Formats: sequence, structure tokens, C-alpha cells
Amino acid sequence: MTVQTFTPSATKAASENTVTQPTHTTDVSMKKLYIETQGCQMNEYDSHRMADLLGDSHGYVLTTNPNEADILLMNTCSIREKAQEKVFSELGRWRKLKEQNPDLVIGVGGCVASQEGDNIQKRAPYVDMVFGPQTLHRLPQMLDQHQAQVEKPKKEKIKLVDISFPDIEKFDFLPEPRVDGFKAFVSIMEGCSKYCSFCVVPYTRGEEVSRPLDDVLAEIAGLAEKGVREISLLGQNVNGYRGETFEGGICTFPELLRLVAEIPGIGRLRYTTSHPLEFSDELIQCYRDLPQMVSHLHLPVQSGSNDVLQAMKRNHTIDVYIDKIAKLRKVRPDMHLSSDFIIGFPGETDEHFAETLQFIKDLDFDHSYSFVYSKRPGTPASELPDETPEQVKKDRLAQVQQVIKQSSIDKTDAMLGKIERVLIEKVSDKDPNLLIGTADNTRLVTFIGDAAWVGRFAEIEITEIKTLNLVYGELLNLEPDVA
Ligand code: SAH
Ligand code: F3S
Repeated sequence: MTVQTFTPSATKAASENTVTQPTHTTDVSMKKLYIETQGCQMNEYDSHRMADLLGDSHGYVLTTNPNEADILLMNTCSIREKAQEKVFSELGRWRKLKEQNPDLVIGVGGCVASQEGDNIQKRAPYVDMVFGPQTLHRLPQMLDQHQAQVEKPKKEKIKLVDISFPDIEKFDFLPEPRVDGFKAFVSIMEGCSKYCSFCVVPYTRGEEVSRPLDDVLAEIAGLAEKGVREISLLGQNVNGYRGETFEGGICTFPELLRLVAEIPGIGRLRYTTSHPLEFSDELIQCYRDLPQMVSHLHLPVQSGSNDVLQAMKRNHTIDVYIDKIAKLRKVRPDMHLSSDFIIGFPGETDEHFAETLQFIKDLDFDHSYSFVYSKRPGTPASELPDETPEQVKKDRLAQVQQVIKQSSIDKTDAMLGKIERVLIEKVSDKDPNLLIGTADNTRLVTFIGDAAWVGRFAEIEITEIKTLNLVYGELLNLEPDVA
């Protein structure tokens, strides 16, 4: 079997760059906006909201070509040092574009903006606007302010930096999301209050704040009406969701899932990401009761060693994780489980590492992500003595990745002969008789069918394994449209 790069849609590694894609063709006379997105799905969601916002307020249309853009926005990630360095090297390229076109507007948002604030403009003075993950809804005003002071002498200009955390205000100012296809992300909360000792998120995105229940439900109902069939609920720690209800009560994450599952049209539900500690029995019961919930869970554990977990301040042991997964697999025996691992955390010994390797094999994970520990300024772990040589960490990472790769190959191979529920997403570009959909475990499934079925769910028997992320099958049953 050939191995291809595997990027499960629900769990993109926080290291890739994406360019936010236009959903419609552009007219040459229109003002153009280019957005580069780094990092997690929260950033991807935010980038789409920025595009919707500036489209509505100033008529900008998205372009995938930075050379023809009137405004360039970078939505940055600071989870690891490498991601942060990328920001300044990319900005160096944008500087050249600004030299050719002095009217070009450059904005930097996301977690690096949040962490660095005015330092961004100290290091890159050609940046016009700096905004954080919680203030992106103020972009139209910032842009107006920028334009109002373009002609002013330098010393009269005010610096356009807004990286505050004005609670959940952002969502009140965002326009209705535009729909592209049958899948959509919906952000249900911002920030994280877990304060794992290695992580910058609580500092860059703030503490957990949940969106009110009615806002979330209304957004999903609107998406379903526009044809969306699969929803991915987003947050750094979604099972910490505590959304205010209309009556002034509190809705928990499992309660939210039950309400979303009742919305007509929503045939599939995913979420990312949750913390093992709050992976509750109520949540496991949702897997028992709600057929819309996929048999795929990304539940980051970070290490297979109790000593390391303690130093990471994850506040649970390996046994707690194992018990929860055992309970989950009891109600969903076909559950695909993936995770994140940090390798080379300060103090990780050969023995600790061996425990992690064994743990990955024992838990029978599907495709997971693994990263070498990166020291982040301001986090408690950055104070810990770290004596493991870089080369040892790299060797450990290579070993972990080998085990992970093999287990995802095994998981794809095991699909042969099984029946998968697939959301049919499109007709193949190569053959109009072939349809392409996604299985619960995010593998692409190709089978013979009718273009009219696109947007519906089907049961497909898998007949051939093509690559790590692509299988072929035959239609067994086409579900009626869920709308
Ligand atoms: N709950 C969030 C966690 C965000 S960070 C989510 O999974 O979406 C994503 C992953 O990045 C973490 O699970 C962790 O494995 C990794 N990570 C975070 N901080 C890191 C650091 N300092 N060094 C290396 N990897 C890190
Ligand atoms: Fe980071 Fe831990 Fe929250 S990894 S996002 S502090 S759960």
C-alpha cells in the first residue's frame, strides 16, 4: 500500500499554513483580500469570519494570490517556536510587496499578535494593524482608522494595536457565516482555563468563555438550512462548555450535543478538542444515544507516563484515560481514537518515553500528532531544567511517528469488508460516475453513484484499500436526505 500525507479534516496539525479559499469567483474590479492562516481549526474558523466581515463591511473579496491583494492578513499561531518564527519570515516577503505597492494594507492577527502586541510593529514597522483572536470583529473599524490616517505625518499616527479580551463580544459582531459545501465549523467557546504547564493558549486566547446556547443553536440551524449536514463544534476544551441559556441557566457540552442532534438537517457531529479530565460519563452516554456523533475522537493525552503528565499539569493519570476510553469503546466498539503527544518534555527519561511508546501501541490509536516539546515564554514549563539533548528528542519523535504511521495504516487496512457511513461530498473530477465522500474516521471513500446523491449519507461496503487516506467501496444503502 502506498503511503500518502494524511491530514484528517477534523484534526489538522497545528503547524500547517493554509490560504483561506474564496467560495465564489472574483471580479477584477473588486478590492481583494488575502488571508494566510497558521495553526489550528479555531484560526481557520476565525479567518473565514474575517473574510465574511470585511466582505460585508468593505466589499472585499478573497483571493488566493497575495500579489494581487489590496489587504494582506496573517492569522498567526504561537503554539510552538517554529510556528512563531514563520510569522516574521513570511512578513519579510510581504514587506517586498508593500514596497511595490505602498497602498497595500498589512494586518497581523491570532496568537502571535496576542503575545507580541506592539513588538510586531517594532520588528516589522510596515505592519499597519495588529489584532488578537478576540478582537478580530473590530477589523472594519481598524481599517477605517488606518485609512483615515494614511496621509498624516508619522508622528501623528496612532498605533493600531488591539489585542484585548473583551469576553465573548466578538460573536455579536460577526456576520452570518457563508456556506461552502456540506461541512461547517462552529465555534462554541473561546480560550482555555486548563493551564497545562507547556501551553501558551490560556495566555494568548484568554480563559474559557462560552458562547450563549441560543447563539450556537441559531448558527447551526442557519447552516443546516443552507445545506450543511456535518457540524464540527470548535473550542480548545469543548467539554468545558457552559453556555448561558435563554432562561439564565447553564447548558453543558453533553446537553448541547443533544440539542444540536435535534436540529433538522444535521446528520453528523464532530468536535475538537476536549481534555480527558472533563471527558464525562454524560458525554459517553451521548455516544450511546446519538447516531449523529461520529465514531472518531481526538482526545489529546500528551504522554504515556504519569510522571510526565504530572509535570505537564494535566491533572489526571494514565489509568484515568484508559478507563474512560474503555467505557467509550463499550458503547462504541468501532471508535477511532487519535491523540496529540509531546515528546522530550523537560525531564522525560528513556523510561518515560518507553512508557509513551507502549501506551500508543496498547491504546490502539488511529492517526495521531506528535511534536517535540517547544519552550514557550511565560509558561511554567519554560522554567524547568531541560537536559535532554535535541538529537535524543528528535530520535524519540522519529520512533513515535513510525509507530503512529503504522497504526494508521493498520486502521485503514482494517476497513476492508466493513460498512462505513459516508457523507457524499462531490462527484470525482476524474470520472463523473464516481462519487467521493468521507467516513467517520475521515478517510475518503470513492464509489459508483449518481451526482444527485451529493449531500446525502450512504452506507458503503469497503471493497479496496487504495492509500492510507483513500478507499473504494460499493453502495449498500442511500439514506433519505436528513433535511
Ligand atoms: N486543546 C487544544 C490544544 C491546543 S494545542 C487542541 O488540541 O486543539 C494543540 C497541541 O499542540 C497540544 O495538544 C499539544 O500536543 C501541542 N502543544 C501545545 N503546546 C506545545 C509546546 N509548548 N510544545 C510542543 N507541542 C505543544
Ligand atoms: Fe493548552 Fe492544555 Fe488548554 S494543551 S489549550 S492549556 S487544555
